[in-house]
Amino acid sequence: MNAADMEDSRQVLRVELGARGYDIHIGAGLIAAADDLLADCLGTGTVFIVTDDIVASHYLAPLQDALGRLGRHAHPLILPAGEATKSFTQWQELCESMLAIGAERGSTIIALGGGVIGDLAGFAAATLLRGVDFVQIPTTLLAQVDSSVGGKTAINTGHGKNLVGAFYQPKRVLIDTAALDSLPPRELSAGYAETVKYGLIGDAGFFEWLERHGQDLLAGDPAARRHAIAVSCAAKAATVRADEREKGQRALLNFGHTFAHAFEAEAGYDGGVLHGEAVAAGMLMALELSRSAGLCDGQDVARVRAHFAAVGLPDGPRALGGGGWSAEALYRHMLKDKKVAAGRITFVLATAIGEAMLSDAISREAVIEVLAAALDSAP
Ligand code: NAD
Ligand code: GLY
Repeated sequence: MNAADMEDSRQVLRVELGARGYDIHIGAGLIAAADDLLADCLGTGTVFIVTDDIVASHYLAPLQDALGRLGRHAHPLILPAGEATKSFTQWQELCESMLAIGAERGSTIIALGGGVIGDLAGFAAATLLRGVDFVQIPTTLLAQVDSSVGGKTAINTGHGKNLVGAFYQPKRVLIDTAALDSLPPRELSAGYAETVKYGLIGDAGFFEWLERHGQDLLAGDPAARRHAIAVSCAAKAATVRADEREKGQRALLNFGHTFAHAFEAEAGYDGGVLHGEAVAAGMLMALELSRSAGLCDGQDVARVRAHFAAVGLPDGPRALGGGGWSAEALYRHMLKDKKVAAGRITFVLATAIGEAMLSDAISREAVIEVLAAALDSAP
């Protein structure tokens, strides 16, 4: 693609949140164009780039060069790659490092990386000096379609994932679709699961498009990637606009996540099971639960199962290596979910492909039955 084509294929979406609203720029080559795209939102203070060691080896230099063209020196803070980085310890060290370098209220933190870096850097931005500006430059598909938009920031605790955090919106999001070229296929697939989610919860037409073009996207087709990222970000932006702090509709974005968080907790956070893989397996469990509650058709479940098989996504806990897990133990993890109130779990369920709803009327027995069937089923 030449430079003119790259510019033509750029898109800008707006997250409408009044004074906290911001633009999402989508296109190939945006990291190297950060001088143009961030010039007006870097403030006057120190600029920090928070990233991980893998992402730094690919994209830190081009980003620093771009900011250098604005006459800005950006201080890199390079953390170990992996979920374990979303910790109290790393948050503390990050804040201490930025204070030592000279953080001030006018500072900006740029999160360059996947959801781990975005969530941690965002939480540091929300808390450092009671809040400094931050920019998201997501480099995984998962972060590009989901975590970089909407302002959820968090770290993990001994009691579970994302249990300490803040809603804190970025000032801008730069989605460089070409960054996906270096992403390992397994990470791409994991991000694809969060992309499918938008089709399943609210857009049957998009699910149908993914059935036809999902494999092109995973094979690296630039137009397919850009389309899927733009549709996903538009869906997320609309949801966040309607319900920024998850009082209702935004909870639908957690489709499959109550199961997923239990799978991740049972597997441990050592990279054996990726978040997106757990979400894929969790969405199938949520569909099975919906079917067993008489809400959706078995044909819809079969159709999603067929798509997951076609693109190589896990279809349940056994596919995550969880054949030996106990349904009871998984249920105990689910009771620690943020959506539990008075001991009742609120599930996101599907009434059809493209239609989702919340329900706190699902019995423990129904959940155990669906999990037990999935754990017992033949590999
Ligand atoms: P990640 O940040 O761990 O990135 C996955 C791996 O890919 C890492 O090893 C990273 O170094 C590497 N990587 C990143 N970009 C790369 C690139 N372009 N080329 C090569 N390697 C690259 O994982 P993730 O899947 O992006 O994010 C998962 C996290 O996101 C979880 O902690 C989850 O809880 C969180 N999350 C948050 C939200 C939210 O709304 N805030 C939503 C969904 C998920
Ligand atoms: N990923 C779920 C949300 O942002 O609400």
